[in-house]
Amino acid sequence: MEHSRVVTAALVLASVLCLFPVSHGWGEDGHFTICKIAQSRLSDTAAEAVKELLPESDGDLASVCSWADRVRFRYHWSAPLHYINTPDVCGYQYSRDCKDEDGKEGRCVAGAINNYTTQLLDYTGSSSRSDHNLTEALKFLSHFMGDIHQPLHVGFASDKGANTIDVHWYTRKQVLHHVWDANIIETAEERYYNEDVEGLIDAIQQNISSEWADEIKAWETCSKNQTTCPDIYASEGIKAACQWAYKDATEGTVLKDEYFESRLPIVKLRLAQAGVRLAATLNRIFGTSRN
Ligand SMILES: *[C@@H]1O[C@H](CO)[C@@H](O)[C@H](O)[C@H]1NC(C)=O
Ligand SMILES: *[C@@H]1O[C@H](CO)[C@@H](O)[C@H](O)[C@H]1NC(C)=O
Ligand SMILES: *[C@@H]1O[C@H](CO)[C@@H](O)[C@H](O)[C@H]1NC(C)=O
Ligand SMILES: *[C@@H]1O[C@H](CO)[C@@H](O)[C@H](O)[C@H]1NC(C)=O
Ligand SMILES: [Zn+2]
Repeated sequence: MEHSRVVTAALVLASVLCLFPVSHGWGEDGHFTICKIAQSRLSDTAAEAVKELLPESDGDLASVCSWADRVRFRYHWSAPLHYINTPDVCGYQYSRDCKDEDGKEGRCVAGAINNYTTQLLDYTGSSSRSDHNLTEALKFLSHFMGDIHQPLHVGFASDKGANTIDVHWYTRKQVLHHVWDANIIETAEERYYNEDVEGLIDAIQQNISSEWADEIKAWETCSKNQTTCPDIYASEGIKAACQWAYKDATEGTVLKDEYFESRLPIVKLRLAQAGVRLAATLNRIFGTSRN
């Protein structure tokens, strides 16, 4: 009796969660793409460390890249770490914007990237004596580096990063935030990549070594010897949100080919930058010898 009531409650909860999915970052394919790109750019030392921290997936970042979304309910405290809200302006400032709804400073995706980067700098190999769970730190960092590059994860507070803006994606009702998490990527896969995320990844990889080759160094570099620089990624994000995501997509707009074709290059660019920067950050974290 008791048991079946628990089961019923669980089913009700599960169906509520399905009816009202709260999206928190690129969908599975976006995060998968970013981590695949990063994996291919890891130094030997970094790949070794990743392998040791992720024994269950044999060091495969892509398979743990969406873990942070799955533990959002179990780790309730982590929910604000997936995004940044600005006071409805097209610019970002850490001291003003990186906080949760209670005003606690550092509790945003930029603060989380700094947090987990710092934790991972304690890594010293198998005998690591960190106070933190570095396996979780790596899974969080890989995910949040993706989220911060989704333009609407650095969005306006008043519309919760466009989660309250209802639009149509072609014929389907959707919130604008979700269009950027998943719909643009899915439509690209359907139209151009045989419904296969690997095709999209290959295309992005090709441009990383051709179209964007001259820019990669600048993407990777942080000033002042910082290990990672999320404030730069966030500033780019809110600019792209204003220039591309929010633009011509107000409540009730029907988004079709014109929006899709003009925004897809931005999505690809952000996926590429996130992957390149995740690898650069991990290479800096694990690359420095401190034996
Ligand atoms: C930093 O990481 C710890 C361990 O996961 C977590 O408890 C804390 O909330 C994190 N803070 C931020 C700002 O990411
Ligand atoms: C670290 O977290 C993972 C879950 O992500 C868990 O399986 C593992 O047991 C934890 N390690 C330690 C030492 O607590
Ligand atoms: C790669 O660059 C070419 C030329 O700019 C562009 O047409 C194509 O859409 C790009 N592909 C990706 C995946 O970014
Ligand atoms: C950056 O680090 C390198 C090597 O650790 C060092 O030689 C250089 O002086 C540092 N630069 C700054 C601006 O701190
Ligand atoms: Zn997320």
